[in-house]
Amino acid sequence: MPSLTVPLRERAYTVHIEPGFSGLGPTLQGEGVRRVVVVTEPVVANLWLSTLISELEGAGILVQHQVLALTEATKTFDLWRECVEGLLELGVDRRTVVVALGGGVVGDVAGFAAASVLRGLRIVQVPTTLLAMVDSSVGGKTGINSTKGKNLIGAFHQPMLVWAPVCALQTLEEAEYLAGFGEVIKIALVADAALFAELEVHAAPLLERSPDALMAVIQRSVVLKAEIVASDEKESGLRMVLNAGHTVAHGIEAASGFQWRHGAAVAVGLVAEARWAERQGHAAGVVERLVPLLRRFQLPIDAPETRAESVLVAMRLDKKNADAMLIVPVPVEVGRAELIRHPISQLAELIEGLSCVAFNPSC
Ligand code: GLY
Repeated sequence: MPSLTVPLRERAYTVHIEPGFSGLGPTLQGEGVRRVVVVTEPVVANLWLSTLISELEGAGILVQHQVLALTEATKTFDLWRECVEGLLELGVDRRTVVVALGGGVVGDVAGFAAASVLRGLRIVQVPTTLLAMVDSSVGGKTGINSTKGKNLIGAFHQPMLVWAPVCALQTLEEAEYLAGFGEVIKIALVADAALFAELEVHAAPLLERSPDALMAVIQRSVVLKAEIVASDEKESGLRMVLNAGHTVAHGIEAASGFQWRHGAAVAVGLVAEARWAERQGHAAGVVERLVPLLRRFQLPIDAPETRAESVLVAMRLDKKNADAMLIVPVPVEVGRAELIRHPISQLAELIEGLSCVAFNPSC
């Protein structure tokens, strides 16, 4: 089955894209892992925790676990503290490995807990959503939300290994599954015109969750992401292109109290930012291909219930802001992005044309 390396010198690791969990136990055992704590959330625990435990115990690994009520809305200090205290309660030591079993939220919180406990435990990411397989499990970003905005607290903590069991995608709720294509379309838009064109022509098998089609698209997305992460691990330049659509998306998510799915918000953000780029003369012909592709994957292109003011408040705290300028990754054409500096004082331009609850000077 496909496996590929994220070439980060002494922190290089392998991403395994596999039909299921079989093989993970011996792989970890071969890496010298003797004890793990699995961190997960209730829905995934019901579906996959016992399979994972059998797989790991079958390889002679001691397995403990923590099931936390993790959602984007609860990705806070409280749940992070619960995770950290739970690990310490279990008596972890520096050889214990944390296994994050779940979607992006589980990976973010378990990863940040692993980065913090005993000044750093190793972590294995076992993503169970499409979004986590193609994006968040790879690259080492971990963290939690602040009352001020999304992912404003966290650390870079690369996993020792990623294992994507593609079977887990068959049990995902439809809206959750489709949201993953927000990130697939994003990476194609900023880095791979051929992938974008393939998605335009061959959406059907992906919409039907064909395992072969999924394996191929996950592999392609991870290869692209791994190349970008390897050349800019800590996001001082090139990696920022992976945040295309995210400035607006994070604003929408925060404005909704984190009720929006991240991938769906990214879809809206991509359209808003691409429209802005076209108005500014930085791009041409992107929106006319982006909008139908997002619609094909049943993703939103607008946020009609969202208050523009609240989106802007959250956007002002974007991590890409520096020296009163926002660095916006702009798809200058399908398959290629550039970083454009834009004054934060003119942030509202990014959401002009976005159908959301209009500005109301009295609030
Ligand atoms: N999700 C964007 C990144 O990992 O850089």
